[in-house]
Amino acid sequence: MLFGHEKIEFLHLPTPLERLANISDDLGVKLYCKRDDLTNLATGGNKLRKLEYFLKDALDQGATMLITEGGAQTNHGRLTAAVAAKYGLKSAIITADKYPGEINANLLLDGILGCPVYFVEDMESGRKAVTQKYEAEGERVYYVPMGGSNELGMLGYAECAIELDEQARTMGIDDSTIFVTIGSLGTYLGMLIGLKYCNSNLKLRGINVLPYPGSGTDRENLFAYMRGYWERLCDFYGRAFVYAKDDFDSMDFDISTDYIHGEYNNAVEEVRDVMYYLARKEAIIIDPCYTGKTFEAIVSEAKSGRIKSGENIIFLHTGGLPGIYTKHHREAMESELKSYMHF
Ligand SMILES: Cc1ncc(COP(=O)(O)O)c(C=O)c1O
Repeated sequence: MLFGHEKIEFLHLPTPLERLANISDDLGVKLYCKRDDLTNLATGGNKLRKLEYFLKDALDQGATMLITEGGAQTNHGRLTAAVAAKYGLKSAIITADKYPGEINANLLLDGILGCPVYFVEDMESGRKAVTQKYEAEGERVYYVPMGGSNELGMLGYAECAIELDEQARTMGIDDSTIFVTIGSLGTYLGMLIGLKYCNSNLKLRGINVLPYPGSGTDRENLFAYMRGYWERLCDFYGRAFVYAKDDFDSMDFDISTDYIHGEYNNAVEEVRDVMYYLARKEAIIIDPCYTGKTFEAIVSEAKSGRIKSGENIIFLHTGGLPGIYTKHHREAMESELKSYMHF
């Protein structure tokens, strides 16, 4: 129970907090990894913590089906399908992306999980049409927002922050800075709120991996969106909440938009380089869309001195493994990794 909301527990928590000794030695920092990629359904990832709260809400409302939306390669869609499968619900994913020409990566897993994916021209009318179709068939649809980032979804990461704070205290590293990926913002804001809730010493650095729409800079557009989300959270949780609406302007948000590389889910050489680096030093696989950009921030800031020598850093690994099998990423890696193949 957090902020008056319950969840249905299907995760084996806590996820491990591990020391990455080889990279720590190499970079001269003390690096740890919070393994939320190891959450236990359908190859794991951060969205499952949010879905524990959505599932409770959906079942309370008598839902028979979960529908969500996102990019064609949405990790959140795959994990929504996974939770639906486990709890005997139907599921569907709606995307305004084009069909990539092959059933790969998350799309393949969606199919394996028995979840239809609807490629629509326009999200709003597509959402309406798909929902109506299933409602006409007698389903009671529960709509999970994109990325699971709303008032409820945030709770999953508030809880993760509390869990991590306890682990960090036990390990004597509660002065660490946590690096967290920012997509639809629920993970970052949930962490921020959870750290405040438990009076943590841990610091939080958000790495934004996609440009938010708008007419300003990447940073201005992100902050405009974040202010809206923040205000919705404050309205929803009211006086019992850890922050007030007005706090937004005085908050010292530590967020970078320097690692977007211009686009969402693009193939970026620097990101692939750190993917190979982490795999070859620690046998941990990250993805080219989300966690790869965040890990690039850690490596580059350790090298530039922005992260001080000997500083404690926690990389929150939020999953996303199937992303390596997306066609354009796979093709970019194929040409680089060919020399490893000996026929
Ligand atoms: C693997 C992975 N990491 C991080 C994120 C970002 O989380 P959020 O959308 O809560 O900001 C996502 C979102 O889709 C994700 O799939």
